[in-house]
Amino acid sequence: MYESNWKGANISYWDERANMEYTYKKEKFYTITPIPYYYARRKIIIRKIKKIIKKNHFKYICDFGCGDGEYIKKIWEKELYIHGVDASPSMIDIAKKLQYDNVSYEVSEKGITEDAKFDMIYSSAVWAHIDDMHCQYLMHNIYEHLFNGGIFVICEQTAPFRYGGGVFFETNK
Ligand SMILES: C[S@@+](CC[C@H](N)C(=O)[O-])C[C@H]1O[C@@H](n2cnc3c(N)ncnc32)[C@H](O)[C@@H]1O
Repeated sequence: MYESNWKGANISYWDERANMEYTYKKEKFYTITPIPYYYARRKIIIRKIKKIIKKNHFKYICDFGCGDGEYIKKIWEKELYIHGVDASPSMIDIAKKLQYDNVSYEVSEKGITEDAKFDMIYSSAVWAHIDDMHCQYLMHNIYEHLFNGGIFVICEQTAPFRYGGGVFFETNK
């Protein structure tokens, strides 16, 4: 069903965004969000994600919709295994320039295809861009890639694609 109906992520839009590079405080950004705001938001999210990882002694982490990989770069510690997934090949090309041990990437708009499970999967500013039908499919995919007791963290300051919303699945196993 999803194969035949899959309209998918707007990959050309995200690829285009990957070519819009801005510099702020000596860092590169690929966003249309006002950069001081994006910068502040990223700092808060990273602090919270790191806290969750530490508190739960998590080791296997996935950044779903990792974009340019900056979150991975900032969360990285040598004892972690981090997998970044993004629909945009250009975003993943940028992310791959950051070479760290135990970090892998995949280009996919249909969820995680790696045969792997994670303690924590997180997404920042991704799900507002995914419509309800794909949300359901992708939520299942996320669920299937969590260890028992694993958690899914969604960081989103905007509303879902449609206010009507769809069905959301409980992701804690
Ligand atoms: C607003 S950007 C956020 C990037 C990064 N997480 C951040 O906060 O800087 C949204 C990202 O979601 C990705 N994306 C959109 N739909 C996706 C899908 N179905 N699967 C994986 N990634 C997707 C886009 O390619 C884009 O890199």
